[in-house]
Amino acid sequence: ALPERVKIVEVGPRDGLQNEKQPISVGTRVQLIDLLSDSGLSVIEAGSFVSPKWVPQMASSEEVLASIRRAPGITYSALTPNMVGYERARDARADEVAVFGAASESFTRKNINCSIEESLERFRPLAEQARIDGIPVRGYVSCVLGCPYEGEINAEKVAEVSRALLDMGCYEISLGDTIGVGTPEKARYMIETVARQVPMAKLAVHFHDTYGQALANIYAALQAGVTVVDSAVAGLGGCPYARGASGNVASEDVLYMLDGLGIHTGVDLARLAKAGNFISRALGRDSGSKVARAIAGE
Ligand code: HMG
Ligand code: MG
Repeated sequence: ALPERVKIVEVGPRDGLQNEKQPISVGTRVQLIDLLSDSGLSVIEAGSFVSPKWVPQMASSEEVLASIRRAPGITYSALTPNMVGYERARDARADEVAVFGAASESFTRKNINCSIEESLERFRPLAEQARIDGIPVRGYVSCVLGCPYEGEINAEKVAEVSRALLDMGCYEISLGDTIGVGTPEKARYMIETVARQVPMAKLAVHFHDTYGQALANIYAALQAGVTVVDSAVAGLGGCPYARGASGNVASEDVLYMLDGLGIHTGVDLARLAKAGNFISRALGRDSGSKVARAIAGE
């Protein structure tokens, strides 16, 4: 059975833009977020408070959060890898923060320069401070269906890291197919394995579309009981520390599928596509969303 409602978490302004080669101005980032705020989305990942040496595109996330028009009822969230990042995010009035770990040792080392165990030790005081401050914390697990350095990843390892994030207070765990290698039955098996450790209602899927499998994998996730889906408008995105990782699944494509399935999201496709077309024009390329291109041609 499919869910009646799905929450779409828009990660375009963060995951989408963090990997761009060309410089993107604060103004463009702000305009994208403001357009997304008009589409009916309830969560928009607005930036990240990581080292600007590691991810230059996410520098100035303070300015972005200070300049957006904050629409009522929308959560503007940000990635925070450590206490320094958390304090920056809190000072910038992020509504929610996200820690990001992985089920692969090699990827964790390349992405945040520590082991899985060390990463969890780093996240714990952050989650504790956020609890005191009343800021919800989301937890990401990367490489849930494969790693660019280690290949196959054991679903039990994904479940173990997910459980650790839940236990330290993360209210939602987002399962990332960072390099988009998964296929539907593997996705279903992984989700069912994790759901033995984390309640299904707290799981989100975060699929990149490198191999064109993301929508099929999302459908499998919905059938398994998942009700939260991460996506990036215009299919922007990729992780700079995962070679060959292409964009996130396009929000417009996800929404078109959910609309077609009769699943309520509260998001308006035409307005969402407007945001996607804006950023595609700003980046000087065609939208990565097939749905957006089809609508534009109508
Ligand atoms: P490090 O070099 O081990 O950290 O990096 P450090 O604590 O030794 O600090 C080194 C320098 O960075 C110091 O400055 C710190 O002050 C500074 P220096 O003394 O050299 O001038 N620093 C910071 N500055 C600003 N904000 C901070 C911060 N922390 C330290 N928060 C670190 C460790 C985690 C900082 C680094 O590895 C990093 O920033 N990594 C981020 C990588 C990243 O953003 N990756 C992309 C996001 S993850 C993703 O895309 C996957 C996801 O989408 C899910 C999926 O698809 O699977 C979420
Ligand atoms: Mg990602």
